[in-house]
Amino acid sequence: MSAEAPIGIFDSGIGGTTIWKRIVSLMPHESGIYLADSKNAPYGTKSHDEIIALSVKNTEKLRAFGCKIVVVACNTATTNAIDYLRQSYDIPFIGIEPAIKPAALQTKTKKVGVLATRGTLSSQLFHHTMQKYTSGIEVFEQVGEGLVELIEAGKMDSKETRLLLKKYLQPMLANGVDTLVLGCTHFPFLIPEIRKIVPREFQILDSGHAVARQTKHVLEKSGLLNTSGTKPINFCYTNYKTHLLQDFIDKLELNARVAYMDF
Ligand code: DGL
Repeated sequence: MSAEAPIGIFDSGIGGTTIWKRIVSLMPHESGIYLADSKNAPYGTKSHDEIIALSVKNTEKLRAFGCKIVVVACNTATTNAIDYLRQSYDIPFIGIEPAIKPAALQTKTKKVGVLATRGTLSSQLFHHTMQKYTSGIEVFEQVGEGLVELIEAGKMDSKETRLLLKKYLQPMLANGVDTLVLGCTHFPFLIPEIRKIVPREFQILDSGHAVARQTKHVLEKSGLLNTSGTKPINFCYTNYKTHLLQDFIDKLELNARVAYMDF
């Protein structure tokens, strides 16, 4: 495998672009191929086996493009499918999980909220992480029902989104939660709306930086970090509407054209 091969990234839709942005900021010489499986979004309401099947489909595509590593830029796919993917393929996989450990270390009230999909909150991997890091901490788990669909439709600052966020966050605030873990890569797009609901000193955590750092570490360790200094080439594919994704890619200043592909 060549170090000049691209990094492959997939998500159920636009959420993983927040991770891609962090990867590009940390490793500007790397080329990337992003797959937005918006046709099958949301993953969070699907069964464990369906999520594995979709993750395999995306991985096969990225491997066909010659990717040297796959970043599963989706908490739902990671918590349900990463073990299966690692056992099935001989390339490295980087996953993303809710930032439970940093939240447990940072909370002052010892009360943490987790906003994620049903698929993530019901996964074994999530429960395992919770058991490991949250002793002495009260955790309020909340399924973000409906939020992924609204974000996929570009409605992050709509009245509907605001109402749902209030419904999900106000009980946490009433219980003294001072730290919120965004356990879905779509949710960083909601931070401006969340900020309007929570107190100023409230902490909002996501795992994007950690994923970018881990990707770099694994590439370095396996001799696959691109040090050639060549201009990166980025491709972004969606199996749904291209213009919506292009808007996000442009807003994030990711230098990529979005194309339609059936996958
Ligand atoms: N962005 C994904 C995640 O991090 C998936 C959301 C969904 O499709 O339900 O969980």
